[in-house]
Amino acid sequence: MNIAKTIDNARKEIGRLRSAGKTVALVPTMGALHEGHISLIRQARDYADYVVVSIFVNPEQFGPNEDFDTYPREPEDDLKKCRDEGVALVFAPSGNEMYNEQKFLSINISSLNSQMCGASRPGFFEGVLLIVNKLFNIIRPDFALFGQKDIQQFQIISTMVREFNHNINLVMAPIERANDGLALSSRNTYLTDEERLTAPGLYRALQYIEKQVIDGVHTPKLLIEHQKSELEAKGFRIDYLGMFSFKTLQQINTLQKGNIYILAGAVWLGKTRLIDNILIEF
Ligand code: PAF
Repeated sequence: MNIAKTIDNARKEIGRLRSAGKTVALVPTMGALHEGHISLIRQARDYADYVVVSIFVNPEQFGPNEDFDTYPREPEDDLKKCRDEGVALVFAPSGNEMYNEQKFLSINISSLNSQMCGASRPGFFEGVLLIVNKLFNIIRPDFALFGQKDIQQFQIISTMVREFNHNINLVMAPIERANDGLALSSRNTYLTDEERLTAPGLYRALQYIEKQVIDGVHTPKLLIEHQKSELEAKGFRIDYLGMFSFKTLQQINTLQKGNIYILAGAVWLGKTRLIDNILIEF
């Protein structure tokens, strides 16, 4: 496995990998790799000859009061995991390598980030698009894999790929969960033992709403409000919980046949922000 810390080296290595007409799949990450990432790497192997993993804690996608400084960083562990999974190249640049000049440009996102995580994390998706755009230009992968847990991120990146004409196929991989249903996340390490026991409550609330919807509740507002109160009673602070259009990422009050919806939530448990979602093909 090769490790590139500079853009130049990454480009050289990618050139070598591609030399015999081989294909490349990129798994972009911020490190602290868990089973969710490993599953993305394994799926990536099905799509292309070589898997490239990028590891970069992107300062541009953290707000001033967010956890950039404390975000888990486990470089040695991450490299070992990548090696064990047969990754061909790890691109692990420094902050200066990625952002070495004053920036005069930024990417603007229209209504796709006005709700869900975009509403509570101003600048987050602009920061994500900036780094993903750079990674796509450096690695030029044939495929790029992202997890469904960050479904708004996936939809916004898909829009960028379409509108900026990146020649890349995107794959959204299903959410990996712990045995009790909690969606895997690098941030789960922030949970105390007690919070960890409470945390799967978010997924259970989503599952409950999903079942009611499948059983015929097509205007789920009251149902969702009730689940919010239940979660609050268990100690969660609600950021949002709702039903959104998969296409527009706007909240939907009345479900209509033939559409795809995202039943999604973001909640706080102590200092940990948890997100989760279920896709509902209606
Ligand atoms: O999903 C993530 O881990 C990050 O947002 C990504 C896509 C690696 C960009 O920094």
